[in-house]
Amino acid sequence: MASKQREISTSEFFTKSRHLLVFDNPSKALLTTIKEAVDNSLDACEEGGILPDIYVEVTTLAEDRYRVLVRDNGPGIVRAQVPKIFGKLLYGSKFHALKQSRGQQGIGISAAGMYGQLTTGRPVMIHSRPGTKAQAQYYELKINTKKNEPDITKDQVVEWEFGHGTQVEIELEASYKRGRRSIDDYLELTAIANPHLELTYMNPAGDEIQYPRVSDELPVEPKAIRPHPYGVELGALLAMAHESKARNMQGFLTSEFSRVGAKVAEEILEKAMLPAKTKPKRLNRDEAELLVRAITQTKIMNPPTNCLSPIGEEELEAGLRKVVEAQFFATVSRRPSVYRGNPFLVEVALAWGVDGMNNDDLAVLHRFANRVPLQYQQGACAITKSVVGTSWKKYGVNQSRSALPGGPLVVLVHVASSWVPFTSESKEAVASYPEILKEIKLGIMECARQLGVHIRRGVRARDEEKKRDYIKSYIPAIGEALREILGLSEAKEKKVVATLTDTLERSRKY
Ligand SMILES: Nc1ncnc2c1ncn2[C@@H]1O[C@H](COP(=O)(O)OP(=O)(O)OP(=O)(O)O)[C@@H](O)[C@H]1O
Ligand SMILES: [Mg+2]
Repeated sequence: MASKQREISTSEFFTKSRHLLVFDNPSKALLTTIKEAVDNSLDACEEGGILPDIYVEVTTLAEDRYRVLVRDNGPGIVRAQVPKIFGKLLYGSKFHALKQSRGQQGIGISAAGMYGQLTTGRPVMIHSRPGTKAQAQYYELKINTKKNEPDITKDQVVEWEFGHGTQVEIELEASYKRGRRSIDDYLELTAIANPHLELTYMNPAGDEIQYPRVSDELPVEPKAIRPHPYGVELGALLAMAHESKARNMQGFLTSEFSRVGAKVAEEILEKAMLPAKTKPKRLNRDEAELLVRAITQTKIMNPPTNCLSPIGEEELEAGLRKVVEAQFFATVSRRPSVYRGNPFLVEVALAWGVDGMNNDDLAVLHRFANRVPLQYQQGACAITKSVVGTSWKKYGVNQSRSALPGGPLVVLVHVASSWVPFTSESKEAVASYPEILKEIKLGIMECARQLGVHIRRGVRARDEEKKRDYIKSYIPAIGEALREILGLSEAKEKKVVATLTDTLERSRKY
């Protein structure tokens, strides 16, 4: 046995477990590759304070082989970072920063490159230019999966017509489909959740599809926050203490966590019966256990919420209107809340009377996390559970048991957080924390109430119309009867009929 023991590199692990990162079939692989690159481009542009212009091109190379090209006008990547970003799994700038961003794990783009390399043997091709004054650099690199390190095969200065930004090209084995869960679908949804994005998409048929920008305002820049004590687990607390530069526990608690001032720190330490002088580096397991318990017993203010950047009600509606035609829209952006010390917020939009849908259809549900559309694992997601768990009938919308509501309805739910609790590394389903389920449900109910008013008004309007039609059918008879009884002329009878009809028409309440 001993001779068989050996280390497994991160890349080797994900090569064998590619389903974890949603590369387990050719059409998912294509979508995931584009998604990873586009997510990164959006993150980079926003971080650089640049309104994103993104170009996506998918080219067919052979029946089962495609090239994906994604180019942004972002801040580019400095030379020293390129190899690690694209050639090493678990390398990134977002994992340790507690603020809302699309990426969080540092796996995305390198995994896409690795999949391409595995299926086609081709390297990842990168152009990057950090600014108009800087030179553009072109790289080709592969991932050495044994070492989880990059092998650079080309690194040269090139002429590049774009002022600043990054372009990634990956060739991969894939299949291209249209319809639900297609790339086209994903890009359209991305445009909805990012009204500030100008997106151009060249599909494999060579058609250029344009999603114009509908808002010239960049999303509010989320600020990184320190972790909140309520979210910390024993092991993490120990590790933080051992790495801390603070000289005593009082200093450790106040400097490493958000919302812990001198008084709160004192209270925690008192409850844990730990002397404030204890050196964090020496904190042992038992003491950490006491600390964790003391934290749960101490009232600590909720974490700051400026680490979040909601889409906003108006922007969400504008985004949705870009691609959905409907009679009625309702949107709500809920106030931030907290799960396990992590701030999060929920936004919901409904569109009713949607063009191309009818009463027998099931509602279409669009799920988003940190502005990224979620395409797979719908059933396992807290968003789906909350939508299914809402009593839609109360609002005049049909619903069978344990099913999505029915009718010409589009439901959009966005969960934003400094750390979205995904059910797996594939970032496709939000985990069912009770606080999150509750907030989604409240958001849906708020929108559904507005929809209910609209639908009821519609029902009442239809009832009234029926009565009006019924009365209308008697008006000629009334005219005739009046002519006979009162001996009116034909012209007078016509006038009476016209007046009655007009009065009836004008009496519309709805
Ligand atoms: N287009 C880009 N422009 C600028 N920087 C980028 C770009 N793409 C990637 N990066 C940098 O490379 C890092 C690694 O990207 P990668 O997609 O592998 O991980 P991530 O986005 O941090 O997390 P996730 O695995 O959740 O996607 C990012 O954190 C970012 O700093
Ligand atoms: Mg990423």
